[in-house]
Amino acid sequence: MPLYSRITGTGSYLPAKRLSNAELVSQLAVQGVETSDDWIVERTGIQARHFASVDETSSDLAYKACLKVLQAANCPAQEIDLIIVATSTPDMVFPSTACILQNKLGIHGCPAFDVQAVCSGFVYALTIANALICSGSARKALVVGAEVFSRILDFKDRTTCVLFGDGAGAVVLEASDQPGILASDLHADGQFAHILCTPGQVSGGQVIGSPLLQMDGQAVFKLAVGVLEDAANAVLAKAHKTSADLDWLIPHQANIRIMQGTAKKLKLSMDQMIVTVDQHGNTSAASIPLALDVGVRSGRVKPGQLVLLEGVGGGFTWGAVLLSL
Ligand code: UT7
Repeated sequence: MPLYSRITGTGSYLPAKRLSNAELVSQLAVQGVETSDDWIVERTGIQARHFASVDETSSDLAYKACLKVLQAANCPAQEIDLIIVATSTPDMVFPSTACILQNKLGIHGCPAFDVQAVCSGFVYALTIANALICSGSARKALVVGAEVFSRILDFKDRTTCVLFGDGAGAVVLEASDQPGILASDLHADGQFAHILCTPGQVSGGQVIGSPLLQMDGQAVFKLAVGVLEDAANAVLAKAHKTSADLDWLIPHQANIRIMQGTAKKLKLSMDQMIVTVDQHGNTSAASIPLALDVGVRSGRVKPGQLVLLEGVGGGFTWGAVLLSL
């Protein structure tokens, strides 16, 4: 019997501290950084974001999302035999956030590792977990996106610091004789590494280069719109589907204008898209599983529906996963 993988539960967690645009704008004003609620809403669709407290790490957010997903999937932690965390803001240089999360969950022995593909991290992680399940190497995987981007924001740079937030989302992916993950399409092009990066590195006991996020927003915007359309069409073609078959598009949540552009190119209505960028900002690798969980828990995204997940971000990386929920 062919082996497939299916999502059997979703979960997410947002840090308690929520900052509306108005609150962020007034905090930035104190530092002489000028921005406005109008600009942020008009250019990005973002109205608020959550920031982790100083002692909260990616693994803390991941842990809380995992408690929810394990409950939703009715899966005791001890049955998990693979943990993959997509993050670009790990707790430490090493060990991986996945190993720290594994220990917090009280699981010992199963493989656990991080995937670093920035905002495409979750679709990369889901694709890897699917491959390991379909090859028989794992049966129940925790696939997590967790980020504390607030740690790497330059609060003197208004072109980036208003865009990002913190959070975590997770799924349980289980072996199944019914297809769940139908197709996947991943890409990267390192020639664009410089347009979205946090270039600092630890060397000789010091951070060499800037430890803060830098982005050429317009360059990222232009590339994102093109590759998201290509990845969507590629993954649909692999599964012999068209966008007309889709129930839901759940893209990376960076900018409502990119999301509207993608919906238009795929001839989808905005009602077929889960939008969380307004309340979460851009949570990088966490944004897709966060949005998926919001869609599922609100009762909009239902079992049996055809869902397209799409990510794009630093690397430059991009990719899509098509699944039947
Ligand atoms: O997660 C990975 C994927 N990331 C993305 O997809 C992000 C992609 N890029 C974007 O979403 C958009 O490019 C941004 C939201 C980052 C910027 O929007 P934009 O419409 O491309 O704005 P812009 O960079 O062309 O800037 C327009 C103006 C500039 O002023 P001038 O030069 O026209 O006088 C900026 O200085 O807006 C100014 N500006 C701001 N003004 C008020 C830039 N940031 C701000 C700000 N508040 N926060």
